[in-house]
Amino acid sequence: MPSSLHMLPGAPWIAHHDGSLRVEQVPLQHLADTHGTPLYVYSRGAIEAAARAWSDAAGGRDVALRYAVKANSNLAVLSVLAELGWGFDIVSGGELARVLAAGGDPAKTVFSGVGKTDAEIAAALRAGVQCLNVESDSELRRIDRVAAQLGVCAPVSLRINPDVDARTHPYISTGLRSNKFGIPQALARRVYTECAQLHHLRVVGIACHIGSQITELGPYLDALDRVIDLVRDIEHHGVTLAHIDLGGGLGIRYADETPPRPADLLGALFARLDGAGLGQRPLLLEPGRSVVGNAGLLLTEVVTLKSTLERHFAVVDAAMNDLMRPALYEAWQDIVAVRPRDGAQARHYDVVGAVCESGDWLGRERLLDLREGDLLAVLSAGAYGMAMASNYNTRPRAAEVLVDGDRAHLIREREAVAALFAGEHIAPR
Ligand code: LLP
Repeated sequence: MPSSLHMLPGAPWIAHHDGSLRVEQVPLQHLADTHGTPLYVYSRGAIEAAARAWSDAAGGRDVALRYAVKANSNLAVLSVLAELGWGFDIVSGGELARVLAAGGDPAKTVFSGVGKTDAEIAAALRAGVQCLNVESDSELRRIDRVAAQLGVCAPVSLRINPDVDARTHPYISTGLRSNKFGIPQALARRVYTECAQLHHLRVVGIACHIGSQITELGPYLDALDRVIDLVRDIEHHGVTLAHIDLGGGLGIRYADETPPRPADLLGALFARLDGAGLGQRPLLLEPGRSVVGNAGLLLTEVVTLKSTLERHFAVVDAAMNDLMRPALYEAWQDIVAVRPRDGAQARHYDVVGAVCESGDWLGRERLLDLREGDLLAVLSAGAYGMAMASNYNTRPRAAEVLVDGDRAHLIREREAVAALFAGEHIAPR
């Protein structure tokens, strides 16, 4: 019997089979032989199952799912979600271009982000996005001006900062009043009133986002309570808010977290919304991590095993430039051997990359039985993995593969070193 490591609803997508790890029906050893390492590997079945958990949880309610492109922006991933009828949450002109290239529907696309430029606003208006989530009164006037130049009326939703602690890593908490995001609650009514004087704007909603990797419902409900109070207050002053956007999704299990499921979140949100008489109002959600996070892994090969007087290091061919989360947030992600050995030579290894920084590690103190040349899989790497990769140390970014049953599709080619400096020029003397 294959032993399942990561179970997703109805889809044990990663499992040991004959002593070696497979994604769906494709052995990781085969993928490494074909495409090389480091390699991002995603399961289409797992992405679809995670997406369906959201749409099933919505039941018959009016919930509009807008996948947060920043979590994993590969065109193939976007196209899987577009096919399932999802819209998108974008934060840059670049992400807009990706959504359009992947066949996403601009009318189901919301544009968030704290510093939209004139060019990005114009591109979004020309594409016909569902709305722009506005982060300040100054941005509101900027959008009005750009819309006037284009002779259009911009659909806007104000992003409120509810001053709620999402109880997550400080770098990915966004809804505290000390964060740069959103319009302070106390100023919201004034800014909504200002919209009425700006003739190239059309108010369509209210938005808020409190953070990412949220593992409890409490902060969401606190934020919703504040949004409900604001909706009442603002509508009392004559502005109608067609939809409510509550931002990102839920946390995932990296180690032993037990995050709520989409059905838990939606059940709790609708209980409050129904209680406030707002249950019929369209609800937008922008999940990213929970859709792709546990549907992907980073495959890497052990280059060198090295022991110092203090520690054992497994130097692998992936590094912080490929997967930044451990270095940036001290994030813990499971690391497993693709073909586990008998454990006779198991040691506690720091699994590190070759980048010239001591912060370049993927996992610390991991009990593994390793030889040079072994393959390791860094799990839960589907979200904020490749999307945050860089070329630091002139390291080409990894290739990406999407597994679908017994087929594996190369969805992004490995970067060539020459391409990294193709746009650079030696200055004449
Ligand atoms: N909507 C907005 C406006 C956001 O800022 C975010 C994430 C999302 C949606 C998606 O949230 P999710 O469903 O993924 O929790 N690089 C960090 C995560 C940064 C998330 C920032 N905003 C990490 O690797 O943990």
